[in-house]
Amino acid sequence: MSAAGRDFDLILRDAVCVTPAGRVEASIGVRAGKIAAIGDPASWRAAETLALRGLHVLPGLIDTQVHFREPGLEHKEDLAAGTAGAAAGGIVAVFEMPNTKPSTLTAGDLAEKLERAKGRAWTDHAFYVGAAAENADALGTLERLPGTPGVKIFMGSSTGSLLVADDATLMRVLAHGSRRVAVHAEDEMRLEARKPIAAAAGHARAHPEWRDVETALTATRRLLAAARATRRRVHVLHVTTEEEMAFLAGHKDIASVEVLPQHLILSAPGCYERLGSLAQMNPPIRDERHRAALWRAVNDFTVDVMGSDHAPHTREEKAKPYPASPSGLPGVQTMVPLMLDCVSRGLLPLERVVDLLAHGPQRVFGIVGKGRLAVGYDADFTVVDLGARREIRNAWIHSRCGYTPFDGMTVTGWPVMTIIRGRTVMREDELIGPPAGEPLRFFETL
Ligand code: DOR
Repeated sequence: MSAAGRDFDLILRDAVCVTPAGRVEASIGVRAGKIAAIGDPASWRAAETLALRGLHVLPGLIDTQVHFREPGLEHKEDLAAGTAGAAAGGIVAVFEMPNTKPSTLTAGDLAEKLERAKGRAWTDHAFYVGAAAENADALGTLERLPGTPGVKIFMGSSTGSLLVADDATLMRVLAHGSRRVAVHAEDEMRLEARKPIAAAAGHARAHPEWRDVETALTATRRLLAAARATRRRVHVLHVTTEEEMAFLAGHKDIASVEVLPQHLILSAPGCYERLGSLAQMNPPIRDERHRAALWRAVNDFTVDVMGSDHAPHTREEKAKPYPASPSGLPGVQTMVPLMLDCVSRGLLPLERVVDLLAHGPQRVFGIVGKGRLAVGYDADFTVVDLGARREIRNAWIHSRCGYTPFDGMTVTGWPVMTIIRGRTVMREDELIGPPAGEPLRFFETL
């Protein structure tokens, strides 16, 4: 290598790097926003060097499910605050959901979101296109537009008006297009029939009874039947039940599986007694039997990806009497600290966190140049201090909602730097601007 070949813009020196081969003590050289070398730094020079002894360098972690509410619901969240929270929490890129106002249904809606993100998004980003009866036939074209990870289906109603309730529309949606489709699997007909349970209870503790195991399992079974019939790959979002995990393990050829930290860390009935509607989300947080089953599915690798399903609502909205209280928990900023804490408690290895939040998203969605410490990939890094003991506090939260259900929890492990395409965007809880997030690219639509 020539001397010039060893000149970098940035060197991350002497960290433990979580590479595709596992933990390696190495330095990383960055040039023009890309990883240019991983190895021995003796002769390396750079304009800037970060001395990282004692810290771990992970590939930039990616949150493949967030609701940033813009346009139309900016009183709950917006792209600036949502991505600020992401960067503060060690996330370098997000997939944003289409249940905004209006819903993201057309090329124009998608273009507007990409435009709004310019100069305001702190992280890289992609925006889902929502599936509906009205755009079903156009989805094959829409899913190929730049800046989208593809199509999202709501089989059960949640926040907003997006809904594909019946099998005929579901089949029509899946028949148009070829990319993997992300799906919220709850059975709308059963939800409708059981609504009186929620109304009669008047407390969020009834949420997992209204939206019961059968509601989730029925929808997931219907989805897989439709996916087989249309030869389509699906990504089953936020799986919450032991029964679905057992079922999905038999369909790994066409189904990928997501879990959320909320469902791994909180459980009923305690979460509802302590947090009330602040623990109300769809699909719901369930009892210990399911929580244990989700952990087994994480550790036997049935699960491909973890997302936060960051879905903020204001405190005032959440204070409405159940079931008028909206469903959804903020989480983009707390996911990495919570998972590092799980690592410190021996619940999963650090390498598995990297798999769920970087290698998994990259593999499942075919993200170009992200999610992997490898020469030629984007210089995206989440630098973590595995020994840091910190309290998660509402005051730290960037989300417009201003709170986290994990306020007051002490964790071991904290993201200390977020680096995106070679630029340090967060260091020691400080955001370093200006925001310069860019759209993600995908192999299937290059
Ligand atoms: O609890 C939820 N909230 N689940 C969803 O599927 C949507 C989300 C939201 O947008 O509020």
